[in-house]
Amino acid sequence: MVAACGSSTTRKLLQSVTKGAAQSGPFHFREPAESTGGTCELGILTRALNPKEMAVSTHIPEGLDRKEAEVFAKLDASSLPRHIAIIMDGNGRWARKRHLPRIAGHRAGVKAVRNTVETAARIGVPALTLYAFSAENWKRRPKTEVDFLMNLLRKYLKDEVPTLNKNNIRLRYIGRKHELPQEVQERMAWAAEETSENTGMTLTLALNYGARTELVDAFKDIVEAAMSNGGIEHLEISEELIDKHLYTKHLPDPDLVIRTSGEMRLSNFLLWQVAYAEIYVTEHLWPEFRGRHLLEAIASYQKRERRYGGLIDNGGGN
Ligand code: FPP
Repeated sequence: MVAACGSSTTRKLLQSVTKGAAQSGPFHFREPAESTGGTCELGILTRALNPKEMAVSTHIPEGLDRKEAEVFAKLDASSLPRHIAIIMDGNGRWARKRHLPRIAGHRAGVKAVRNTVETAARIGVPALTLYAFSAENWKRRPKTEVDFLMNLLRKYLKDEVPTLNKNNIRLRYIGRKHELPQEVQERMAWAAEETSENTGMTLTLALNYGARTELVDAFKDIVEAAMSNGGIEHLEISEELIDKHLYTKHLPDPDLVIRTSGEMRLSNFLLWQVAYAEIYVTEHLWPEFRGRHLLEAIASYQKRERRYGGLIDNGGGN
């Protein structure tokens, strides 16, 4: 029934996935680089499935490594968060633990970005937003570190466009872009343009972003729009109107916020938009974070009961 290759763990996983499950064609996942380094087609169901089996379909998206596939197999793929927002924290601590300069932590953080973005796109998360550079970072970090982060961002954008295109990812930004160095702004505009035709996941980088400055900018925008459209006397302010003037107008509100390095703070990130988001904090430092950790966060999210201020079904409190 199952034509398997790979380790005994992958065979067990495959058997658990196929046990009672429907799969109309072959499915694939990669062995993690550390085990085989290759792609391995693992299984084909060779008999007709009965309707009961058809009801519990598990499809492992192509490109996941073995550990990711193990976690993904336990998820409800039909109710992924529509928007995941991540506060990437702990680059400095990761470097310090290794007696390395802080910039080594940021460099290692890029690998975590790459892996997390690809996994999110592969499993079909519609929107992922990464808090890469807060408005406060300018003021509170040495100029050498800020310059390094700017150069790292420029390099990331140049190197990453082919991978973003391969994964059908559209790149957008939120934050006060006009305050960033000119050459960074140009590279940002180029990368956004290069990926603008993609129709899969929207990857939004928060750069020189602060939630309070976003609200200030939104309110200014609302007043300016009203002034050039007959004055503010008839201006009716509503939640929908504010939504339309936020940097995030291209996105649904986040369903899930992830923060690495164990800190229990929102750090001025998407404060308006996360009103009903589930929050997941992991002890992993950002450079250690990988696609499988994203999947674990989604698994935790799927166990939560979201009430939006209402009551739970059995009549309990909110
Ligand atoms: C927080 O770690 C991280 C940042 C301020 C920068 C995030 C940048 C990256 C992950 C790399 C570049 C990203 C892109 C998209 C190219 P921290 O320095 O505050 O760590 P600490 O709290 O341990 O000191």
